[in-house]
Amino acid sequence: MKTKTKRVVIFLGTFALSSMIAGSWVPSALAQDPQVIDITAKRFAFSPNEVHLKAGQPVTLHLVSEDVTHGFFSRPLGLDETIPAKQSVDVKLTPRTPGKYSIICDNFCGSGHGNMKMTFVVE
Ligand code: CUA
Repeated sequence: MKTKTKRVVIFLGTFALSSMIAGSWVPSALAQDPQVIDITAKRFAFSPNEVHLKAGQPVTLHLVSEDVTHGFFSRPLGLDETIPAKQSVDVKLTPRTPGKYSIICDNFCGSGHGNMKMTFVVE
């Protein structure tokens, strides 16, 4: 009798635990919050300077300028943003086609402006 009770307790315990696990996983999977990618612009580079994305997966780019106003431009990705001095902008992006894309700063920001770029690798 004692052993049977123990088994029931273990069974209910396991059931409760798996329900809790399922409960904590299912809503977050359904919510599908886009992944946030932080990119910092500072004379004369973006950090990080390479980001890997998955085709078809929406992301939010959180672009921050640490100094002056910078641009964030890529024609094939449809990006044409201005990151105001010492401010941030959030941009939603769902890359569709795998490949390597250059993003350039298209807002004159000083002597090294022409070299200010980064790469998105879409897989
Ligand atoms: Cu940064 Cu031009």
